[in-house]
Amino acid sequence: MSSSLDAARPETAPDVTPRFRPAIHFTASDTWLNDPNGLVFHDGFYHLFFQNNPYGNVWGNMSWGHATSPDLIHWTEHPVAIAGDEVEDIFSGSVVVDHGNTSGFGTVDSPALVAVYTSAFKAGSPYGGTQAQSLAYSTDGGMTWLKYDENPVLTRNSAHFRDPKVFRYEGAGGSFWVMVAVEAQHQKVVLYRSQDLKSWDFLSDFGPANADAGEWECPDLFPLEVDGDPDNTKWVLIVNVNPGAVAGGSGGQYFVGDFDGVRFVPDAGSLAAPAGLSSFPDKDAAQAALQQCLWLDWGRDCYASVSFSNVPANRRITIGWMNNWDYANQLPTAPWRSSMTLARELRLSSVNGSLQLIQHPVLPDQRVEVSPAVSPAPFNVGGTALRLADAVPGTAQVIEAEIVPGSAERVEFSLLGSTDGSQRTVLGYNTGSGRLTLDRRQSGDTQFHGKFASVESAPTALEDGILKLLIVLDQCSVEVFAQDGKVVLTDLVFPEANSLQNWLSAEGGIATVRKLAVSSIA
Ligand code: FRU
Repeated sequence: MSSSLDAARPETAPDVTPRFRPAIHFTASDTWLNDPNGLVFHDGFYHLFFQNNPYGNVWGNMSWGHATSPDLIHWTEHPVAIAGDEVEDIFSGSVVVDHGNTSGFGTVDSPALVAVYTSAFKAGSPYGGTQAQSLAYSTDGGMTWLKYDENPVLTRNSAHFRDPKVFRYEGAGGSFWVMVAVEAQHQKVVLYRSQDLKSWDFLSDFGPANADAGEWECPDLFPLEVDGDPDNTKWVLIVNVNPGAVAGGSGGQYFVGDFDGVRFVPDAGSLAAPAGLSSFPDKDAAQAALQQCLWLDWGRDCYASVSFSNVPANRRITIGWMNNWDYANQLPTAPWRSSMTLARELRLSSVNGSLQLIQHPVLPDQRVEVSPAVSPAPFNVGGTALRLADAVPGTAQVIEAEIVPGSAERVEFSLLGSTDGSQRTVLGYNTGSGRLTLDRRQSGDTQFHGKFASVESAPTALEDGILKLLIVLDQCSVEVFAQDGKVVLTDLVFPEANSLQNWLSAEGGIATVRKLAVSSIA
């Protein structure tokens, strides 16, 4: 970054913080990022565009940054793809490969990549103060982009109409493009259709429903086979909400239902509050219903999750922004600020009679086994904590465990702990409450914002008496996938450099460890 840009950067973290730079989570090299945008697979590469401030490490000057990866794990950052200017900020949106050249921007043999993004028009410009949907296109595989000269292509004269996710619908209702966007402050998803990506007709809207205390942002709508059965497809509608998510602040909820090319109709089982939680007169009832909504993640730091388009074999893979608007601009990292979550592959499965997403982090198959520093499983664990392998600076660590809590009241992983144990992040399972809890109150630097120190928890049923955990630690994050991906918890943490110890213990009885594997990824 040039010195003139450095001078323009409103730096809020005091020093550079190389120790927090993740090994396998994407960060911009020295600038701010928020939502993943335009996730698309094309010609052997996954493209990750993202909300980016090219001139600083707090939110502002919104443009689309760009990175690519062959494997969803190792990313290469490229120059800004679509830059904001004096007329518009470039807000969130999506990219499609225009197979069939419906837009005329490419050719049938060499289809263009078309970005559908939100123009947040600046005061004084012709559409000043409104948010409307615009196009940009690339004919060189996503590396350079031209704005369409007849932008915007869809306006509602609204100040909060944004975050278009476009996909190709082929079904009983016909064959066309569908745009799913939001009227953020009305807690509504709005759907449109088009033949050419340029001219759009209104289809229907959905909402408010379930979590509606905050703005609805970054929606996504896609089909998934139920338990891999090609004859049983359901539709998943993701709606990110800020604030008002289950762990507080920003988070992602979803609905399962049907889409006929016009309307999304949620299954009754997806609706904890059909008219939205704010329609509940009783606060306790609303709080209880919030727990019944379907959540992509029960932690504090997974927002704006959307899925890739054009991935072979119909794989549905999401990435989220690993942050929360409650404190996003204050994270104690520099020169970069914010990262993405790991890519997560989604499946839809019937769990105790209701349909739920199952999420698997995309991790390399080849990982370096690290000796867990304990005897091979199975073994029992009680009140005396067992020391596991330490985290290693600069690498991500994966802990996989299968534990039968048995007579224990609580099973506890103490992660990224200091030598005297005063600093640590605690992942605990309480057999009495049946909840998995992530406690970062003593995790390290929590003082940078009053809302950061927190405890998150998620209902987690044992299966045949077993708790299965996959935990990914990566310098400043803890991602937990429990019960084969049925429950996910993601939290940022900012431990001191030498807080690397991991321990396992049980309280109030004896638990049996059936499997314990630790591996590392550079
Ligand atoms: C979500 C969001 C989007 C918007 C973008 C602006 O985090 O508020 O609704 O398009 O960020 O950066």
